[in-house]
Amino acid sequence: MYCTKQITPDISWVGGSDRRLALFENAFPIPRGISYNSYLINDDKTVLLDTVDRAVGPVFFENIAHELAGKPLDYLIVNHIEPDHCATIAGLVLRYPEVHIVSNKRTISMIKQFFTFDVDSRAVIVGEGDKLETGHHTLTFLLAPMVHWPEVMVTYDTVEKILFSADAFGTFGAINGNIFADEVNFEAEWLPDARRYYANIVGKYGSQVQSLLQKASAVEIKMICPLHGPVWRDNLAWYIEKYAKWAAYTPEDTAVMIAYASIYGGTENAANIIASKLADGGCRNIVMYDVSATHPSEIVSECFRCSHLVFASSTYNAGIFSGMETLLLDLKAHNLQNRTVALVENGSWGPASGRLMTEIFTSMKGITILENTLTIKSTLKEEQLLDINKLVSSILNSMR
Ligand code: FEO
Repeated sequence: MYCTKQITPDISWVGGSDRRLALFENAFPIPRGISYNSYLINDDKTVLLDTVDRAVGPVFFENIAHELAGKPLDYLIVNHIEPDHCATIAGLVLRYPEVHIVSNKRTISMIKQFFTFDVDSRAVIVGEGDKLETGHHTLTFLLAPMVHWPEVMVTYDTVEKILFSADAFGTFGAINGNIFADEVNFEAEWLPDARRYYANIVGKYGSQVQSLLQKASAVEIKMICPLHGPVWRDNLAWYIEKYAKWAAYTPEDTAVMIAYASIYGGTENAANIIASKLADGGCRNIVMYDVSATHPSEIVSECFRCSHLVFASSTYNAGIFSGMETLLLDLKAHNLQNRTVALVENGSWGPASGRLMTEIFTSMKGITILENTLTIKSTLKEEQLLDINKLVSSILNSMR
């Protein structure tokens, strides 16, 4: 049976939530599930904004049929052609063969990469600033390339001041009844997943997100309808500010994130001692992760939040321990910038991880690597206390 949510008197959410999928994009754990949002505008002309992943296809089609109540579907606007939003387009066209597909030239071309139905006869190609009048509503299209794919655009309802923002402002997490962000404790329950979604899915494209934010700042926005997660109708400025920080690679918190890769505990011991001494020095915002126990997407997200990052790694096969190497290459791939980094290396006969980690960070923008990289040979020794204290002091001093 259908399960829709009313967003405004004539706009409804017709998407669905998936709590069975283990890995979003076959890469990112989503223990809180994920929602695939689609919106139906029931105006003189009926308009569907994006479709959904095939996992929620059955309820999606019931939702549309219920909301249309026998009316034809006039337009499908495709803001983003990634399969989590487009997998059900062919099914939609089968059910509503008269539908016109509204999108930019690149998207229309990419639809043909995924499907074999006749796209051209249904296509309405739009460009930057073009308008679609549907009766009460007037929809304007704004291109947002690389937020998160090159074809992405967003749709702005100039009458109701609603931004249909595609992946922007989206988050991991299934919709648990409440569709509006102001109906849940977003900061406590959703923000970590929103940050993890941003950092891992869109994080690489900060400058393109900044361009979109710039465009969006030129219009009044009363509501944001993303393709994943809750709809925003209150306190938008708070969430937009988070996005602005993430897009600019500006830390949210003056805080220390310590990630360690330890085989027999020697490196872990050093990480614990550094954390303890940071705390003794007055630092009250420290988080620690074992790279072998925590998914890299969680640590990437924390690196987007924290200002100071400590990486402690064993040497393994004359390289960086694999879990740590994966994490660091992820950080580089996601374009992390503007952080202060301290390094600890361990190696029982040929410590190399410090040099190799340094090479990765020096190839990234805006990373300050603190002097006094600590070298451990198997386990820390009392006579190295001075070296540890120097490293801790340089972290604390750089936080002041
Ligand atoms: Fe939610 Fe880029 O797809």
